[in-house]
Amino acid sequence: MKIYIGSDHAGYELKFNLVSFIMESFPEYEVFDCGTYSDDSVDYPDFAQKVCENVLNDNRNSLGILICGTGLGMSIAANKFKGIRAALCNDLFTAKLSRQHNDANVLVLGSRVIGYGVATEVVRNFLTTEFDGGRHIDRLNMIKEIEERD
Ligand code: RB5
Repeated sequence: MKIYIGSDHAGYELKFNLVSFIMESFPEYEVFDCGTYSDDSVDYPDFAQKVCENVLNDNRNSLGILICGTGLGMSIAANKFKGIRAALCNDLFTAKLSRQHNDANVLVLGSRVIGYGVATEVVRNFLTTEFDGGRHIDRLNMIKEIEERD
């Protein structure tokens, strides 16, 4: 299983720390750091694109994590990619439900909203919770239909 992680400058430090956290806590995942690699100012859509394209081009088990200051820019950009279900989760409950109900394949975090401690637990919930399937499949299919329009 692969995790592609990316951030802009605002999320750089949190990304750096989360890469170590994931490698230590979830050795079953291969972590690919898609940048940015310093806190020099960059544009978050570039990194949303890198992560989302990797998730889409890979097998279905791949996940993405995107971090910017609020998580909003990364969410908006990521959800433009057909097949990406990006969920901005700055709390544990949302992180769990994003997998159970929405089968989210990209987790988005706001580095200026939550600290490292909460971020690690949000990531833990995201990586250890399965999609419930059932009635939620029909709803995801409805989203796919929207994606197919023009
Ligand atoms: C960068 O200053 C900031 O705008 C960005 O990290 C993010 O919060 C955008 O939504």
